[in-house]
Amino acid sequence: MKERKVMNVAHIKNMKVEAEPIAMVTAYDYPSAKLAEQAGADMLLVGDSLGMVVLGYDSTIPVTIDEMVHHTKAVSRAANKSYVVADLPFMSYYGSVEKTLTNAAKLMQVGQAKAVKMEGGREIAPLVEACVQGGIPVMGHIGLTPQAVNQLGGYKVQGRTVKDAKKLVRDAQALEQAGAFSIVLEMVPEELATHISATVSIPTIGIGAGKGCDGQVLVFHDLLQYASPVSPRFVKHYANVGEKIQEGIHGYVQEVKNRQFPEEKHAYRMDAKVINALTKQEGSTQK
Ligand code: KIV
Repeated sequence: MKERKVMNVAHIKNMKVEAEPIAMVTAYDYPSAKLAEQAGADMLLVGDSLGMVVLGYDSTIPVTIDEMVHHTKAVSRAANKSYVVADLPFMSYYGSVEKTLTNAAKLMQVGQAKAVKMEGGREIAPLVEACVQGGIPVMGHIGLTPQAVNQLGGYKVQGRTVKDAKKLVRDAQALEQAGAFSIVLEMVPEELATHISATVSIPTIGIGAGKGCDGQVLVFHDLLQYASPVSPRFVKHYANVGEKIQEGIHGYVQEVKNRQFPEEKHAYRMDAKVINALTKQEGSTQK
């Protein structure tokens, strides 16, 4: 088997040149990151989707930079070879280079992420450029940008008209020019994603964008059916972990109720003399 490399930006960009598909998956804590890394994921994304799949929020909007840093730290501790990218959450970057650099630095210095991801196109190019100049690798994210769900009016496919498609192509080019090392394309038609992937020299990572991208990303809880709150059409289920967990916990609850657990082998023993002495003493003091 091919020896796995410690992934970095150069390797990821080179995978596009070599036409080697890039596999990215989200991870939010130590065990999910450990399992994803062992399973061969090239990149781990600490997505702000953690707000929905881990913290129970109804969108990514309430997620804070402190929550992102907390989860990124856990993922980074588990990742030796996979490249860790962390999301800058809602309003932690928009409109200010200083705020962007401060929060991106938190994700890298405290969270130990290797790169940050930012949603947006041309309008955030100056922020991307400032990060890159400061030594912070940036992954862009265009198409459906969940932090703008209230602006977009729902989780809908983007770029279906000529005007919207042209805008996405220009956004991808602006991100490339600003120095982004790759771009997530979320919920765009396959034809458009394929066209954008051929237009820019940096890798595109698709989610609901068909097979013409240079890589793919899925949310850990979605692909494993791990109590995921939603199941978009673009998700393929590779396991049903939620069912297995529920089965296991149900078995445990039943055995506790039926006094079948714990068994002899799960209990610790003590010397009979000690317990006898204890119960005798307790008996005499109770009289
Ligand atoms: O937050 C996230 O998980 C993401 C992916 C869906 C790309 O941004």
